Amino acid sequence: MSGARPVKAVVLGYGIRGRTYSAYAATHPDDFQVVGVADPVAEIPEHEGLRTWKKWEDALDSGVEADAVVISLPDRLHRDACIKALEKGYHVLLEKPIGCTWKECEEIRDAQKRTRKLVLTGYVLRYAPFYKKLREVIASGVIGDLTSVHHLAAISYGKAAHAYCRGNWSVEAKGTGMLVNKCTHDFDLIEWWTKGRRCVKVSSFGSLFHWRPENRPAGAADRCKDCPAAVRAECPFDAYKIYYERTDLRYHFADESDAAILKMIETSPYGRCVYACGNDSVDHQTVLMEYEGGLTFCLEMESYTQQRTRVTHFYGTRGEVVADEKSIQIMPFIGDSTTIIPAQNGHHGGGDREIMTEFVKLVRDASPERYSKVLDAALESHKIAFLAEESRRTGKTIFV
Ligand SMILES: NC(=O)c1ccc[n+]([C@@H]2O[C@H](COP(=O)([O-])OP(=O)(O)OC[C@H]3O[C@@H](n4cnc5c(N)ncnc54)[C@H](O)[C@@H]3O)[C@@H](O)[C@H]2O)c1
Repeated sequence: MSGARPVKAVVLGYGIRGRTYSAYAATHPDDFQVVGVADPVAEIPEHEGLRTWKKWEDALDSGVEADAVVISLPDRLHRDACIKALEKGYHVLLEKPIGCTWKECEEIRDAQKRTRKLVLTGYVLRYAPFYKKLREVIASGVIGDLTSVHHLAAISYGKAAHAYCRGNWSVEAKGTGMLVNKCTHDFDLIEWWTKGRRCVKVSSFGSLFHWRPENRPAGAADRCKDCPAAVRAECPFDAYKIYYERTDLRYHFADESDAAILKMIETSPYGRCVYACGNDSVDHQTVLMEYEGGLTFCLEMESYTQQRTRVTHFYGTRGEVVADEKSIQIMPFIGDSTTIIPAQNGHHGGGDREIMTEFVKLVRDASPERYSKVLDAALESHKIAFLAEESRRTGKTIFV
């Protein structure tokens, strides 16, 4: 497709991510139009000409005229939906993770090679102005050659309890596990920062440390609504504290009103006691990686943090850089230290919007050769994440 008419898209899965990507159509109507939405339960705001379906398969079988499909479905549906969308001739914006296993990722890669369409992965952080600036700083050579990097993915106790204890990713067999789900963003950034260097060894350790039945306080009930006030008062993971007293996690729910949140706590899985969720996902994990030439990388994924952020410490032969998603501190061994505060605007530091701009550009103008490279690069970092999981499960260092 070339020219400047809007890219027409069908959105599969109208949850948080589906709504986020669809919002781009309202702010950039000349670039992006949503012509159809599939979701079994979501309330879909109507507009003229919009088609709706309950199931993603029905949308793809309908013959709807569109250039692209946005796949913002639960992880376990990504493989089938992506392969079918490609085979129907659509370009795809595919939420991460690409597939639930490395085999599923390879099947998607094979389908992309056959159909020569675009599959852009939802790695929103690499499009955020903050991370673009950070990459520029590291690539400039201001701290010499990188020797090692320490990267903390701080999830925050509320968000981690929401997603990996009570929510969609609490049981590993139902999805990809916490590392692949949460940290594919981080592996993507690592792939970006180490551009051109091959990862040669991966080792990983992690477990479910705390949200286990044996840590349940005496007297705690199965649901927060039934829990004695004295027990709840001492529990940082109490659903009323996380969703009702605080409001920063309410965006996970279509209706954010007080009344809807109270009802949700009483009836939904998000009102369960964190020690009675049947969860087996890890709550913390460390990954060690060695790259060609000796550069080492330590990625830490941690649930029990106050802040929800990422903090990266780069060590180079001529200085250090510390970045914390707000500021970039550059400390060369010779010369003055400086701090840069990149402008940020919007969710994921503006990455949610910028990735849509990139998607539209790629659909409009790029070539099949470029499409192939886009997915291959995204798969590189997924591969390391799956190998890290293999290392955690087998207790072995993996030679890549
Ligand atoms: N890139 C990012 O930063 C980022 C952030 C969060 C989530 N994600 C990914 O986005 C995807 C969606 O996550 P979410 O948080 O929006 O989840 P969500 O649960 O809010 O949304 C998923 C939607 O899919 C719908 N759905 C389920 N089965 C369906 C079917 N058969 N046909 C059509 N629709 C169906 C559900 O009803 C729901 O509305 C996941 O793969 C997740 O890993 C990415």
